[in-house]
Amino acid sequence: MATYRSEKPEDGPAIDALVRQGFGPGRYAKTAYRLREGVGFLSELAFVAELDGKLVATVRYWPIDVGGKSALMLGPLAVRNELRGQGIGIGLMEHSLSAARQRGHRAVLLVGDEPYYGRVGFKAVKPFGRITMPGPVDCSRLLGLSLAEGALESLSGHVGRAHLDDPVAAASAPLAVPTKQ
Ligand SMILES: CC(C)(COP(=O)(O)OP(=O)(O)OC[C@H]1O[C@@H](n2cnc3c(N)ncnc32)[C@H](O)[C@@H]1OP(=O)(O)O)[C@@H](O)C(=O)NCCC(=O)NCCS
Repeated sequence: MATYRSEKPEDGPAIDALVRQGFGPGRYAKTAYRLREGVGFLSELAFVAELDGKLVATVRYWPIDVGGKSALMLGPLAVRNELRGQGIGIGLMEHSLSAARQRGHRAVLLVGDEPYYGRVGFKAVKPFGRITMPGPVDCSRLLGLSLAEGALESLSGHVGRAHLDDPVAAASAPLAVPTKQ
């Protein structure tokens, strides 16, 4: 059975390999990736799953700003190919979302499949267009979860980086103006 623990600095290469395997070379073009450029992930919410002493799954969260309010962006979430379908992805999300709630975070957004993420409570952000992303996103894939009552419903506006840790990296991935979704 998989166990969950906080990510350590030395996990970096194994995590990079998992994410490469899960998302392939097109991943940098994704809108969610561009929000991460120049901003560090939240290390206190970075978790991995281990099975028989091997790192088999990763989840990270980034801080974002939604119309002036703080929120989290979940992802990437990746599970080793041959171990999919055993509940590791859901388990890792439940573990990390519970840590986020305990730390006082209020709302989480992600871009993904509602049938999957709905299993841990995510739902499509409605009405479509209430929250806009800085790039093309299929609006039915923009999902949200409240960690505190009413927190998701209180969000509206444009999603941007919460702050910049590395302005040079961010400049290489400028965020577009809001698009209609
Ligand atoms: C998506 C991913 C994280 C799921 O991890 P996992 O450990 O296999 O997921 P779990 O075992 O917790 O859940 C598996 C269940 O979810 C379902 N599921 C998985 N991906 C799904 C999807 N995209 N849409 C709907 N259902 C999905 C499976 O069919 C399975 O259903 P079952 O329990 O009825 O058999 C994993 O497949 C992965 O790493 N994919 C590549 C990276 C990726 O796409 N990440 C998500 C980005 S949006």
